[in-house]
Amino acid sequence: MEKLVITGGNALRGTLPISASKNAALPLMAAAILGPGTCRLGRIPQLRDITTFSHVLRIAGAEVSREGDGLLIDASRINFPEAPYELVKKMRASFYMLGALLGRCGRARVSLPGGCAWGPRPVNLHIDGMKALGATIDLEEGYVVASAPNGRLHGGTIVLQPSSVGATVNLLLAASTARGGSRIENAAIEPDVVVFCEMLQAMGARLHGTGTRTIEIEGVPLLRPATFANCPDRIELGTFMIAAAIAGIPEKPVTLTGARADHLGQDFMGAFLRTGARFEIADDKILIIPPEVLTPVSIVTAIYPGFPTDLQAQWTVLLACCEGTATVTDQVYGDRFNHIPELARMGIEVRVNGNTVTVAGGTKLKGARVMSTDLRASVSLVLAAMVAEGTTHVGRIYHLDRGYERLEDKLSTCGIDIRREAYDEFAAPEVPA
Ligand code: EPU
Repeated sequence: MEKLVITGGNALRGTLPISASKNAALPLMAAAILGPGTCRLGRIPQLRDITTFSHVLRIAGAEVSREGDGLLIDASRINFPEAPYELVKKMRASFYMLGALLGRCGRARVSLPGGCAWGPRPVNLHIDGMKALGATIDLEEGYVVASAPNGRLHGGTIVLQPSSVGATVNLLLAASTARGGSRIENAAIEPDVVVFCEMLQAMGARLHGTGTRTIEIEGVPLLRPATFANCPDRIELGTFMIAAAIAGIPEKPVTLTGARADHLGQDFMGAFLRTGARFEIADDKILIIPPEVLTPVSIVTAIYPGFPTDLQAQWTVLLACCEGTATVTDQVYGDRFNHIPELARMGIEVRVNGNTVTVAGGTKLKGARVMSTDLRASVSLVLAAMVAEGTTHVGRIYHLDRGYERLEDKLSTCGIDIRREAYDEFAAPEVPA
């Protein structure tokens, strides 16, 4: 296994490039299945989740290869409409194959994702939605077995409650090639979904109202392959903004390049400014100017354009660097707090009550051996390590490798003392002499 070894106290300075979006890349890859022929996807990050999903596509019959900074996906032959448990359990977004395979083949056998590292993440809306579009659904040995009568869904109306990124993507994949029209109400408006809709449109899908809460879809018999470029990763951007605010030199800007500031949503940007940190946007460059003193700002996560749940663990670390007390409340996932006991090992004064974390800032963080539990939890440990006294070992970073491209290279270029090391998780500690 691998870990990151970080010695805290160095300032973050210089320029950090923002990689392409993971959460937009996955639906783009699923969309490629709908067009017989070869899709060219630009800006697909080199991440573990992308490797996993490439494999999911290959199982169905697609050929997937790297080309420059992106992928070539040849979906001429999709002859095995299945997504196996072994891959879906590694990455829940593999469940997008339900909609993609129904849309392309009129049938699908896709493993149910099961549990998630931080508690229940239901897929009821995906399944009820497919039924509303005309699919018959059975559950067999942990697999959702779906089929469209006479090979094509008839289309229908679905109201998502709550609004869901994954369900919106899955239903769009299925409805784009339905015989009739469909309507998704309370659809997700996250930038990742909007970019995905643009790709479907480039493939010939007829969509109306994308980027709004009501999307209407006129089904077409088949989509065609397209060439399409992905957008930058907004969660990496938010993570680096927080990194600059806590570990940058006061009043010395840290530059983030290749970013889309408008993809982060007003709540995050507003909360960030209220800490006293500032930013200046010039095209795809964002200058982050750390303040002398960070002011604690309480946040509540919400769907876009609300404060992203994917940035709440990182915000907890920012609060630890402020004088005073503030809270982090997660309304999207009420128990996404596995990072808290690990951060407590580094000295953060923190209390969890229901879906709210109270952080008493101002205590000096200290390096420790800590363990990643999921993607965003892992990066919060890296942020804490950057400002802690001494050395931190962040174990099980395969979680981090799912969603942060070359993190240690990027941070070490900007002055952070960070390196990757192999280790034996099960090695017994040495007996003292
Ligand atoms: N929900 C339901 N039923 C469903 C689906 C969702 O009740 O059938 C609920 C969820 O429990 C949650 C809310 O709806 O309370 C929103 O969940 P959503 O479906 O939007 O989440 P997702 O599509 O499973 C994506 C991201 C997550 C991110 C969430 C929320 C991808 C691949 N994943 O998940 O990203 O946390 O949206 O923004 O896009 C990550 O990148 O670390 C990550 C977990």
